[in-house]
This record gives sequence, C-alpha cells and structure tokens, in this order.
Amino acid sequence: MDNEYPPLKRHESLQPFSRDHFIALRLARDLSAAALGDEATALNARQGFLAAWRLEIEAHFDEEERWLSPLMRPEETERMRGEHSRLRRLAVQEVVPEKEGELKNWCAVVGRELHDHVRWEERVLFGAIQQRATPEQLQAVGRATAEIESRRPGCRKRGPGPRERKTPAPVACCHGSSGDF
Ligand SMILES: [Fe+2]
Ligand SMILES: [Fe+2]
Repeated sequence: MDNEYPPLKRHESLQPFSRDHFIALRLARDLSAAALGDEATALNARQGFLAAWRLEIEAHFDEEERWLSPLMRPEETERMRGEHSRLRRLAVQEVVPEKEGELKNWCAVVGRELHDHVRWEERVLFGAIQQRATPEQLQAVGRATAEIESRRPGCRKRGPGPRERKTPAPVACCHGSSGDF
C-alpha cells in the first residue's frame, strides 16, 4: 500500500503541513525513546508532547480535516479522522505517573501512533492528493496553508518563512533530501 503512489516532490501547497510533520515525528521519536527510559524522561517527553499539542498539533488535525478532506477518497477520510480521533483521546487522557508503567505505556502508545499516522500521510496520502487534485484545488489549499503557517508558533521559531528566503526552502517530503519521512 505504501508503494501505491510513486515518490513525488511535495507540492508547495502541502509543504506547511509537511513542516508540521517534521516536528511531530521528532516528538514521536522522543516519546518512543522515553518509553524505554526512566520515569523522569517519560514525564519530560509527555510534557513536551502536550505543549506541542496545545500549540499546533491539535490545530493541525483540524486544519487537515477542513482543507484536505474534500480532496480525499472516503476510505482515506475515514482513516485520517479515525487516527486523529484516537490521538485526540490520548492527548487528553489522564495519566497517573505514580502508577507503575502507566506513564511509559502512554509514551509508547502515543509515540507509535503519532509516528505511524504521520508516515502514512507523508508516504501515501499527500502523494495521492497532489496527484488527483486540480491546480485550482491545490492553489486554494496553498492559500489556506500559507495563512495557517503564518500563525504557527512552532514555525516562527524554525526560521524565515518562504517569503523571506532568498533560496528555495528545503522540501520536506517523504522521499526528499531530508530523509526524515
Ligand atoms: Fe493528520
Ligand atoms: Fe498531518
């Protein structure tokens, strides 16, 4: 299934979402690593995830559903919404750090599910969307994602935006040069 669509350079209109994915994957790796470490590391990873959740991941899910669902097939929408719902529930789930294994188990589950969700979007879904969408549809998504990215606190910390860059930004893509997807 992962190979259904050939590797594509990420379309400009989807790059803001891909830049969010870069952050999400880093958080997922931290959570998965913390699940194998001590309690203090796990608590730190959970707090890092929750801070990012409140700042941008929660909004990212809402924005993907709003802007990408019209360009998706029913089964893709069902999968995306289902995985978002599960991660939303996990993000607000109470964890009792004193309870043996509960915190590390939470880190393991969120780390794995966030990683798998982002990888599917990058390796399958976004390629499918940019192949089937019309140029006009992608332009409309691009206007929305540019505006969304201008409001991302995480993005502002990551350096100059596309308008300020003198050279083209590195393309965050599942098969791109960064190799992170
Ligand atoms: Fe998503
Ligand atoms: Fe996403």
